[in-house]
Amino acid sequence: MTTTSRRPAGIWSRIFAALYDPVTAAAERRVLGWHRKSLLAGAAGVVVEIGAGTGANLPHYDPVRIGRLILIEPDPFMRQRLKGKIDGTAPQLRGRTEIVDGTAEDIDLPDASADVVASTLVLCSVADPAAAVAEAIRVLKPGGHLLFLEHVCSEQASVRRWQDRLTPIQRRVASGCHLNRDTLAALRNAGMELDDWRRWELPGAAGRLLPIVEGTARKAD
Ligand SMILES: C[S@@+](CC[C@H](N)C(=O)[O-])C[C@H]1O[C@@H](n2cnc3c(N)ncnc32)[C@H](O)[C@@H]1O
Repeated sequence: MTTTSRRPAGIWSRIFAALYDPVTAAAERRVLGWHRKSLLAGAAGVVVEIGAGTGANLPHYDPVRIGRLILIEPDPFMRQRLKGKIDGTAPQLRGRTEIVDGTAEDIDLPDASADVVASTLVLCSVADPAAAVAEAIRVLKPGGHLLFLEHVCSEQASVRRWQDRLTPIQRRVASGCHLNRDTLAALRNAGMELDDWRRWELPGAAGRLLPIVEGTARKAD
């Protein structure tokens, strides 16, 4: 494993990184982990994960299928946890994994160099979702796949209004996360072909505020 590093981060980032795994643990166990596994089962070859966070996806990659795994994460506190998780993964995967301090909007890889880009719960947080999607398309090989699992704006107007109201607070406490992004539109507007996707909700009241879209978007050949 190799690591690069660059910028400092604030107190909210430190708190968010420290709380991320404990706060999401129950949802991971009950439902999210299963969805991650099913989404990432086909990830093979050169795989770029944007906003890898604490490494929640790591246990769900198939080490036999991964040629190289590039984990992009701008937050130093997240990267610290990510590094700890990698140390605990299968040696086969560990040896092929790199952590990169960078952003989804500016990926330090050549054009058409990746088979897969994975984005889970990230396009809600990036500064410029259109630029992040354009960058994923740039680094993907023709026919390559963006695997996404993202929470998005609700289809119900009343819930959408609450998402709009709560987003300023959410951005503050959850490291830039927006509740009201239309990520499917961002993928379609960028020209991705949505081969296979579904909508679902986490159980409980929070699920209505965090409707999920999950699926595969293909870069045109
Ligand atoms: C809600 S966490 C999700 C982490 C992980 N992907 C997961 O599924 O658990 C959002 C992550 O996106 C990262 N992030 C924020 N802005 C980003 C950007 N511009 N480019 C890449 N990652 C970013 C944050 O640092 C954080 O680790």
